[in-house]
Amino acid sequence: MRRVVFNQKGGVGKSTITVNLAAAAAKAGRKVLLLDLDPQGNASHYLTGSSTAPEANAAGFFNQMLNISLYEKPPQDFIAPTCHDNLHLMASHPELSELMVKLEARYKMFKLRDTLLQLQDSYDEIWIDTPPALNFYTRSALIAANRCLIPFDCDTFSRQALLGLLDTAAEIRADHNPELQIEGIVVNQFQPRASLPVRMVQELKDAGHPVLQPPLSASVKIRESHERSLPMVFLDPKHKLAQEFSQLYANLAQH
Ligand SMILES: Nc1ncnc2c1ncn2[C@@H]1O[C@H](COP(=O)(O)OP(=O)(O)OP(=O)(O)O)[C@@H](O)[C@H]1O
Ligand SMILES: [Mg+2]
Repeated sequence: MRRVVFNQKGGVGKSTITVNLAAAAAKAGRKVLLLDLDPQGNASHYLTGSSTAPEANAAGFFNQMLNISLYEKPPQDFIAPTCHDNLHLMASHPELSELMVKLEARYKMFKLRDTLLQLQDSYDEIWIDTPPALNFYTRSALIAANRCLIPFDCDTFSRQALLGLLDTAAEIRADHNPELQIEGIVVNQFQPRASLPVRMVQELKDAGHPVLQPPLSASVKIRESHERSLPMVFLDPKHKLAQEFSQLYANLAQH
C-alpha cells in the first residue's frame, strides 16, 4: 500500500494525519515507511524531534537522480529508523526546494514511482506527506501512490477547492496512474456541536463523496504530541483523538 496525503491548501492537517496514521499502522505491527516530501519538514520534525535533517534524507535521494554515477546507492540508504518500532523515515531536507527546478527540468516526475515499487517489498505500508502546493513533489507522489487521502479542514472549507482536488487526482489517474484510488476525505478538526461543519460534511456525503469515518476532533493535545515528538497513539492511546486515529486507520486497513 502506497498512500499519499494530499491537499494543496496549507495547514489542513496533512502532516499531522500522515504521521498519526503511519504511527497507528506501526503500532498495529505493520512495517511502515513515512516519506516526507515537504521542504518544511514538519512531519520529519514531528517524528524525530529535531529541526536538523538527519543524514538519511530525501534530498540525498533526489540528488542522486540528478547525478548519474556508476555506483548508485539503494533507496534504503536514504531511510533511517525512528525511535518507534516498525516506523522508518525518509526525512525532508530544506535543499528539496532548490532541487525541485532541476528535477522538473530533467523530467524526473516518474522516478519516485519506480523507487516505491522497489521499496514495497521491504515495507507493508508507505505513507507520503506532501507540501501545500501542486508541485513536482506532490505530482510525483500522486503518480507513485495507489491510494490518496484528502484532509478537509471544516473551518475554511470551500466546496469548490475540494472539487478541484478531486479533479486533480482524477486527472493524474487518467493520464499517468490508473492505480490511484481516492480512498477518501479525512474530516479534521471536526466540531460536532457547530452547525456549519455538520451541515458541510452532510452535504459532502449527500453528494456521494467518500467521507471517511470517524472525523477527527480538534484537540489541544495535538500540540503536546508535536512538542514531545510522540504521535497520539504513543502519547496517550486512550485519548479521544488517538482512538479516532486508530479507528480511522482500522477502517482504512479493511479495504
Ligand atoms: N485535530 C487537530 N486538533 C487540533 N489542532 C490540529 C489538529 N490537526 C492539526 N492541527 C494543528 O493545525 C496546524 C496545521 O497542521 P499540519 O501541520 O498537520 O497541517 P498541514 O496541512 O501539514 O500544513 P502545511 O500545509 O503547512 O504542511 C498545526 O499547528 C497542528 O498542530
Ligand atoms: Mg504539512
